[in-house]
Amino acid sequence: MDITVLGRGQVGGGLTRLWQRTGHNVTALGRDGGDASDSEVIVVAVPSDAIADALGRVRGVHGKVAIDATNTFSGRPEGFESLAHQVKSIVGGPTAKSFNTNFAALYDEIGNQRVPPSNLFAADDEARQVTEQLIRDAGYDPVYLGALDQAPLLDEQIRLPFALSQAGLGQHFYRFARPGEL
Ligand SMILES: NC(=O)c1ccc[n+]([C@@H]2O[C@H](COP(=O)([O-])OP(=O)(O)OC[C@H]3O[C@@H](n4cnc5c(N)ncnc54)[C@H](OP(=O)(O)O)[C@@H]3O)[C@@H](O)[C@H]2O)c1
Repeated sequence: MDITVLGRGQVGGGLTRLWQRTGHNVTALGRDGGDASDSEVIVVAVPSDAIADALGRVRGVHGKVAIDATNTFSGRPEGFESLAHQVKSIVGGPTAKSFNTNFAALYDEIGNQRVPPSNLFAADDEARQVTEQLIRDAGYDPVYLGALDQAPLLDEQIRLPFALSQAGLGQHFYRFARPGEL
């Protein structure tokens, strides 16, 4: 798959490495922007207050599948239900929210686990299959939370892993499983 990732930091750089290992053609862009015309998917991995600026520097994003991986630590956008809704308002294509509840510092440990860690995601129908595939190719087990109207729940859900981390668990994986799957 041809993928453009906005952001080269812990999340953007980390996902780029994971997906390149599974054969995807990934271009990671920084503040200088670039051209995503040849990409099928746009992944947004910048601080939340930089979403509009980062997308505004990239040509050829319109109508593409977008995956929003951001969290609200640097701000919540006025006038949007969620960060993913802000991304969708700019890109204008099928949109998903994923990777925001998974610690990037653990990406290199994913493959060492007994079972794949979970990755919660919400997605428009037309973005669901691609998002599930990219979650699997990063080494996680996708757990569907519903359509994009569940994205605000994922924006809020980030408080739980951070509370758990600060309470003593540290950076961690999580797993949601049906009986018999653990
Ligand atoms: N770290 C985590 O474990 C984690 C997990 C899930 C979600 N998130 C979320 O994912 C997003 C990225 O987090 P991160 O930890 O990867 O941050 P990071 O390591 O600080 O990387 C942020 C990246 O965004 C780029 N950037 C900043 N402003 C930009 C702009 N205006 N235009 C284009 N690129 C811009 C930065 O470029 P420069 O290198 O030039 O500064 C950098 O490459 C955040 O929304 C964060 O809340 C983080």
